Amino acid sequence: MFCCFLWIGFFFSSFHRGLAQGSSSNTDPGGGKSPPLQIVVKLGSDAMLPCDAVDVNQPSDLLEWRKNGSKSPIFIKFMNFKPHIDSRYSRRLHMINSSVILISGAKASDAGIYRCRTMQSGSESTILNHGRWVVLKVTAPMPVPVPPFFLKKPLDKITANESDSLSLLCLVGGTPEPEVEWFKHGASIPFERASVSPGSRLTITAVVPDDDSGRYQCSSVNSVGQLHHVFEVTIQRKN
Ligand SMILES: *[C@@H]1O[C@H](CO)[C@@H](O)[C@H](O)[C@H]1NC(C)=O
Ligand SMILES: *[C@@H]1O[C@H](CO)[C@@H](O)[C@H](O)[C@H]1NC(C)=O
Ligand SMILES: *[C@@H]1O[C@H](CO)[C@@H](O)[C@H](O)[C@H]1NC(C)=O
Repeated sequence: MFCCFLWIGFFFSSFHRGLAQGSSSNTDPGGGKSPPLQIVVKLGSDAMLPCDAVDVNQPSDLLEWRKNGSKSPIFIKFMNFKPHIDSRYSRRLHMINSSVILISGAKASDAGIYRCRTMQSGSESTILNHGRWVVLKVTAPMPVPVPPFFLKKPLDKITANESDSLSLLCLVGGTPEPEVEWFKHGASIPFERASVSPGSRLTITAVVPDDDSGRYQCSSVNSVGQLHHVFEVTIQRKN
């Protein structure tokens, strides 16, 4: 076991020397050679994150992935050793091949900036290394549009007594959430005694038989449809 750790230690120090040389020779092993790759996946689907290897025909000796500049890698695979995967990803992160990892069932929290590094030791035992920035975006599915519909069937005829208050309710659902507007005889309702509360209840206080009787309409509209309902309102005169 000790021998192997020594070997790993040696390779890591070479790797880091390689990185240092790389940066001085204008090849940023952190991904400066390739532009950042943007990957967009839907919530719950699989995200494949590729890392550039210098020579795709030759397996990498080291593949390392970090997220959001974290000090500890989320994935590290060194030569033939079993890959080390951050415990938070243990069931969801898979190695596809020497340069590609896959995050299954992408969550919103998987979005972020990933950085990989690879290392290949060539035949002349030169250490080559390369890397890449990958920006992962996770998009929420677009909700299925639903035209407005009544959550509760509104009444058709409403009777109120003079000087009481009158309340009309139009409970509407839909996606996107519909707006509800109120009209009386086709015109919007301007009078001071009327108010509209959330949940689309129209309230008129101290009703007057001649002024407040009539046809009231609630109209609800969203991007995929519209819905209207007419209330016949009768105000009963006090004897
Ligand atoms: C790794 O897998 C990806 C996706 O399947 C593929 O495009 C790529 O060519 C593979 N690379 C190597 C080195 O096998
Ligand atoms: C990583 O960075 C992205 C973008 O700045 C941010 O939205 C996300 O919450 C970060 N994730 C973690 C786990 O820090
Ligand atoms: C109106 O007043 C009458 C008599 O007071 C009462 O029986 C009736 O329930 C009232 N109607 C409403 C809608 O409040």
